[in-house]
Amino acid sequence: MPLLRTLPLSTLDDAAYDRLWPLLDEGERARARRFVFEVNRREYVAAHGLARLWLGRLLGRPPAALAFAPLTPQGKPGLVDAPAGLDFNLSHTDGLVACAVTLEVGTRIGVDVERGERRIGAELATAMFAAEELAWLDARPAGRSGPDLVTFWTLKEAYIKALGLGLSLPTDSFAIALDGPTLIRDGGSLPVGQACRLWVRDLSSGHAAAVAWMGPAWIEGKGQPPTDLVMEEGLADLW
Ligand SMILES: CC(C)(COP(=O)(O)OP(=O)(O)OC[C@H]1O[C@@H](n2cnc3c(N)ncnc32)[C@H](O)[C@@H]1OP(=O)(O)O)[C@@H](O)C(=O)NCCC(=O)NCCS
Repeated sequence: MPLLRTLPLSTLDDAAYDRLWPLLDEGERARARRFVFEVNRREYVAAHGLARLWLGRLLGRPPAALAFAPLTPQGKPGLVDAPAGLDFNLSHTDGLVACAVTLEVGTRIGVDVERGERRIGAELATAMFAAEELAWLDARPAGRSGPDLVTFWTLKEAYIKALGLGLSLPTDSFAIALDGPTLIRDGGSLPVGQACRLWVRDLSSGHAAAVAWMGPAWIEGKGQPPTDLVMEEGLADLW
């Protein structure tokens, strides 16, 4: 079951921030100290603190004892000594951080969050989007402008993050339809026998969150109710 927990930074007061800091390891604290702007430091500490508290709760381990290491050559972080089936992913943006988790064997997850009012320019969309996505946009009154571009962007980002490939996967090599949303062409990026599910949600904080989840196709076809995204917010129940 895919899980998403978001943390609006407006809800993170100084006392909570001070409780997150000691949960980070030396490498994380060193990276946090290197941020020039305090706002970026807070986003980083919030994202990594959220991941530690939540993964610690889900796995029954002390949050400060968790160790992270790259899972893919392109830098997707993984958990050292992770139980079979665990995958997680982080995203941070202006005012919000998020962590997505999946716990079923053979599944992977990716998340991207963006400010709702963010706009993607037509030139960037033309360079980054698949032919099917551009054709769909061109058939709409707003064309290659407006909020649909950000929705495509967050979904595509979540997909490449689930795979752990980052931008080494050309973003025009696979295509998403906003109806669903659905992956309509994987371009060979999805291993044979795997299915992908996508969600995009508008949050009360004014942000949008997209999640991509992939796993063995049999999970989808077992006759069970469709897997849905379970959403949670904040830190209050995690201390
Ligand atoms: C690095 C990248 C994985 C995400 O970058 P981003 O959107 O700027 O940042 P996000 O906040 O959503 O995600 C960053 C987090 O993803 C994780 N991450 C890093 N590399 C990753 C990878 N290869 N796969 C999955 N997750 C990764 C890390 O936890 C990182 O946070 P941390 O450095 O604090 O640990 C990569 O996809 C990228 O550079 N994207 C740029 C945006 C873009 O051009 N998107 C095209 C959409 S059409």
